[in-house]
Amino acid sequence: MYDPEILDLSSEAEKCRRYYDIQYSKPHSYWGDQPNLLVPLVSSHLAPNSRVLVVGCGEGRDAIFLARLDFEVVATDVSANGLKRAMEIISGEDHRLELFLLDAHEPHDYLGRFDAVLMMNVIQHLKTGSISERIEHFKSLVAPGGIFSAQLFTVEDPQYAEFAHSSGQSKRSLTIVHPERKYRLRFFEKGELSSYFDGWEMIYYHEGLIWDKPHGRQAEFHQHGIAQMIAQKKADQKRYRLT
Ligand SMILES: C[S@@+](CC[C@H](N)C(=O)[O-])C[C@H]1O[C@@H](n2cnc3c(N)ncnc32)[C@H](O)[C@@H]1O
Repeated sequence: MYDPEILDLSSEAEKCRRYYDIQYSKPHSYWGDQPNLLVPLVSSHLAPNSRVLVVGCGEGRDAIFLARLDFEVVATDVSANGLKRAMEIISGEDHRLELFLLDAHEPHDYLGRFDAVLMMNVIQHLKTGSISERIEHFKSLVAPGGIFSAQLFTVEDPQYAEFAHSSGQSKRSLTIVHPERKYRLRFFEKGELSSYFDGWEMIYYHEGLIWDKPHGRQAEFHQHGIAQMIAQKKADQKRYRLT
């Protein structure tokens, strides 16, 4: 269940919350009802009954997909309207899906360990100075042999140059204020996402331009520069002595 208490959010998270709360209160789902393309691939690497954490779940498209596959899913977001929409979609179905109104800058340890942690298009919304620390925090929640999957914007994204230009910001700064929505977006350099996962096995890694379907206020197919990753934490080394 989501906790309807108002969060004491950082100003950055509050700007995101305000924008997404409005979008998620509209009649049509902002992101559509299909999961992120990486998520079916993630699910194929999970054992039955795996626990999955979906951070910044929006209206729950990935969390619901995984819950319907019978995984135990915990999903978070700062937008209460996003979580409400997820609850409405799944109401009447019998799944293990828990929803938390929770800022990704806050500790998540009390939620336990997970066989997979998903951060789909949310890392770019985190406070620039906290990104490395937050990635380490979420990595620490992954059980040995478990998976961390993420998708985020890179400097290849056509919006990066466009926003920097329209807001008069230096193109060299990786953090750009969205000209209309006023929240900050952190674009990643090439190879940057994988650099946080030294020692993990890359099951899938891709950086490049993709075509995205119309969503939200973008009525046309449009391009994004993204990094996509499915990384696996090394399993604990077990030593067996034959006697
Ligand atoms: C680009 S949307 C992606 C939503 C979802 N992951 C998906 O792909 O459908 C980013 C989401 O991150 C959430 N978000 C932004 N900042 C957050 C924070 N500090 N903690 C948790 N969620 C956050 C927003 O409310 C929004 O739902």
